[in-house]
Amino acid sequence: MSDLSIELTAPNGRKYTQPTGLFINNEWVKSSNGQKLTSINPTDESEIASVYAATAEDVDTAVAAARKAFNDPSWRDISPTDRGNMMIRLSDLVAKHAETLATIETWDNGKVYADSLGGDVAEVQGVLKYYGGYADKIHGQTIDVGPSKFAYTIKEPVGVCGQIIPWNYPLGMAAWKLGPALACGNTIVMKAAEQTPLSILYLANLIKEAGFPPGVVNILNGHGREAGAAIATHLGIDKVAFTGSTGTGKEIMKMAAVNMKNITLETGGKSPLLIFDDADMKQAVKWAHIGIMSNQGQICTATSRILVQESVLESFIEAFKKQVQEMSVVGDPFAETSFQGPQVTKAQYERVLGYIKTGKEEGATLISGGEAHTKATPSSKGFFVMPTVFAGVKPSMKIYREEVFGPFVVIASFKTEAEALEMANDTTYGLGSAVFTKDITRAHRIAKRIEAGMVWINSSNDSDYRIPFGGVKQSGIGRELGEAGLAGYSQIKAVHVNMTGE
Ligand code: NAI
Ligand code: MG
Repeated sequence: MSDLSIELTAPNGRKYTQPTGLFINNEWVKSSNGQKLTSINPTDESEIASVYAATAEDVDTAVAAARKAFNDPSWRDISPTDRGNMMIRLSDLVAKHAETLATIETWDNGKVYADSLGGDVAEVQGVLKYYGGYADKIHGQTIDVGPSKFAYTIKEPVGVCGQIIPWNYPLGMAAWKLGPALACGNTIVMKAAEQTPLSILYLANLIKEAGFPPGVVNILNGHGREAGAAIATHLGIDKVAFTGSTGTGKEIMKMAAVNMKNITLETGGKSPLLIFDDADMKQAVKWAHIGIMSNQGQICTATSRILVQESVLESFIEAFKKQVQEMSVVGDPFAETSFQGPQVTKAQYERVLGYIKTGKEEGATLISGGEAHTKATPSSKGFFVMPTVFAGVKPSMKIYREEVFGPFVVIASFKTEAEALEMANDTTYGLGSAVFTKDITRAHRIAKRIEAGMVWINSSNDSDYRIPFGGVKQSGIGRELGEAGLAGYSQIKAVHVNMTGE
C-alpha cells in the first residue's frame, strides 16, 4: 500500500499519513492510467504531494460502486437511526482528528490555522452531527381525501449523487454536501477541487472507520474538465451538486441535462453591504471587514460591495481603512498573529492582482493595499496580496460588477433608501447581503426587498449550518444547510390506495 499513501511532516511539525489514491468502495486505488495531480503549498510555492487524479473510467468505477451500495441491503434497508448514528460517529472521528485535518487544510489551502481548526473543522463536525440527527426524522405524510382512498407519501433518497466541491472550504463544502445526502440515504461520488486535494482523502479514511458500507461514499480527486465533466454527464448519476464559479455552474447545468439530473448549484456573488447614516458605525466597520477580508476574501458570500450613505461616507472610509490596516495582518497561516494567509493558487493571486490593475485603470480611488505582499514571510515567496480597498467606485466599473474572490472590496455611496436598494439589486448575482441600520422597520423592509438568498441585519457572513444557505438569480439553484438542505436529496413518492374494492 506504500504507493497509495505517504508519510508527511507539515510546516507546524505535525506528522501524519497522507492517502494519495482514489477512494472507491472503501478502498484506495490508483487512477486507471496512473495520472496524478500535484498539490502546492501557497505559502512558499513548494510541492506538498502528488495524488492520483481520476479519469472518466475511474468515475465509471466509482459510480458502479455507488449504485451497488445504493441497492445493497446494508445501506438501503438500514434503520434511519443507525444511519444517523454512523454520521454522528463520523462527526466524533472528525473531532478526534481535528488538529490533523486543520493542519492539512492550512498547508494545502493557505487559510489561517485558527480558522481551519475553530471554523472549518468545527463546522464539519457540527454539520455531520446535525444531519445525523435528522436521519430518523425525515417523514412523509398521510393525506385525507375521504374514505374511498387512503393516500400517503414516502420520502426517498434521490439515488447516486455526484458532488463537485471547490477549494475555498475543502472540508466544509464536503460536509455540507455529505450531511444531507447521507441523512436521506443516498450514495455519493464526490470530486474535490484540484487545488486542494489532500484533506478530503484523510476524511475518507474516517468515513470507512465510522462504518459506512463500501461504495456509500466514494471520493475522487481529478480535473474539472475530465473527472468533473464525467460526473456531470454520467448516465448512472441521478443528481449533481456543485459549488464553484457561475460559469462552470452553467456548464454543469447543460451537461446534467443529458439524463435530466436533479441539480443543486451554489455559485458566485457580488454581495452588497449597506450602511445607513443611523448605523452603529463601530459594528458596521467591524463586520464590513470580517465580511470581505476573512478567508483571504475567498468566500462566495463575501460582502464585496460596500454601499454607504453619503453623509457618513468619509467617516466610514477613514475608520474602515484603519480597521483593515490594523486587523488584516498578512503572514504565515500557521502563525497565531496572522489574520490573512496567501491566496490559494498562483492563478487566484494573479486574478486578484489583475483586478487591482483594472481598478487603478478605471480611475477608482485606492484607499489601502493595491499590490502583492512580498514581505509576508521571510522567504518572500507565496501568493500573498495586500488587503485592498477602492473607494469612489462607479456602478459601471468592472471592479464593481465582477466577482474578484480575494481580499478586495469596493466602496460606493448612495443618497436614499430607494437608491441603496436599486444599487444593491443591480447585479446578476443574488447570494448574500447585509444591512446596517438601527431603524428596525427599515431593516426588515430592506430584507424583504433585497434580491438575495441571505440577508444579514447588523452583521455579515455569520453563517450557521442550521440556517438555509443559497442564492437567487445567477448565484445558484436550491438550498444547502438547515432543514431546507434535505429537500435537494430526497424525492416524494405518492401512494394511492383504493379503499373501495371496486
Ligand atoms: P470552478 O468553478 O471552475 O471549480 C470548482 C469545481 O468545479 C472544482 O472541483 C473543479 O474541478 C470543478 N470543475 C471545473 N470545471 C468543470 C467542468 N467543466 N465540469 C465539471 N466540474 C468542473 O472554479 P475555479 O476555476 O477553481 O475558480 C475560479 C473562480 O470561481 C474564483 O475566482 C471564484 O470567483 C469562483 N469560485 C467560487 C466559489 C464559491 O464558493 N462559490 C468557490 C471556488 C471558486
Ligand atoms: Mg494547494
